[in-house]
Amino acid sequence: MNPRIALVLLSCVLSIATGLVLSRGKGGSTAKKSGGLVIGLSMDTLKEERWIGDRDLFVAKARELGAEVLVESANSDDTRQLRDVESLITRGVDALVIIPHNGAAMARAVEMAHAEGIPVLSYDRLITGADTDLYITFDNVKVGELQAQFIADRLPPQGKLRLIRIYGAKTDNNAVLFKQGQDNILNPLIQSGRIEVVFEDWAEDWKPENAKKITNAAITKAGQGIDAILASNDGTAGGAIQALIEEGLAGKVIVTGQDADLAGCQRIVAGTQTMTVYKPLSVLAKQAADLAVKLASGRPIFAKEESDNGKVKVPSVFLPIYSVTEENLRETVVKDGFRSEKDVYGE
Ligand code: GAL
Repeated sequence: MNPRIALVLLSCVLSIATGLVLSRGKGGSTAKKSGGLVIGLSMDTLKEERWIGDRDLFVAKARELGAEVLVESANSDDTRQLRDVESLITRGVDALVIIPHNGAAMARAVEMAHAEGIPVLSYDRLITGADTDLYITFDNVKVGELQAQFIADRLPPQGKLRLIRIYGAKTDNNAVLFKQGQDNILNPLIQSGRIEVVFEDWAEDWKPENAKKITNAAITKAGQGIDAILASNDGTAGGAIQALIEEGLAGKVIVTGQDADLAGCQRIVAGTQTMTVYKPLSVLAKQAADLAVKLASGRPIFAKEESDNGKVKVPSVFLPIYSVTEENLRETVVKDGFRSEKDVYGE
């Protein structure tokens, strides 16, 4: 058994016996004074549709479990996110849930929290190089594999497929995991010459406008003979498709995505985007709220997986994901109530 999980279980047994060890929060806030649990949620950004969903689902579930949530969003600024964490600690939270803009930069946040006896849950993105207590996310390597497999399944009968690769933000450990999954599928095909990567780059801060710039540069360099764009999420897919529209190529080039954003789903119906990866946010947010409340109240937690973050093996929970195309959009994203028929199809 992973020593860290053994430690969590041991200290829980101790905490049940003594009730002391795990309830780390020193707690000064009014909410604290009211005796309720308080959870601090420090977010990278609320500028993307996805994260607004995460916040609302998480807060609602935590409230259902009797905990109050204090939310801060750092607007993709590391210094600001550290200040947010400091302020949440000062307000006496019992546990911290962090969606890091920069996984490495938030190691300092874990240190600050632990100095006050506050446990830290890394949400969706891993905080690296720190004693992170727990990590919950989707199977991110598999996200990349599904995106790449979609392209590998559509190779021309002869010759090669010409590919543009748009990775996510370099500061985001998930972007590295998505690329790793993509490489698992693509590398043999690149080596055999069935796929030619004509251009590749990282989209800073996952910004659609940066993905558009990458696609413009790729078409300037490689010409119009592009067969596919492996965009790492729907936001960057949208930026790339803007460039394709300018070139009269939209709908003629395979474009991948991730997140099943509303715009991504609408583009799949319109035929300008070809696939996305659906990650049921409600499963992630609700399980994370449940784990955060348990962490905050020192109750036992068992996590089957672990993630090496370069310092420790973080107990982890990985959640399933689904490849979505126009064929199965209704029985996945719509059936789950993640997107409405009306919003996606406009009927
Ligand atoms: C990743 C996340 C994706 C994606 C991206 C941009 O970490 O897993 O769902 O949307 O950030 O925010």
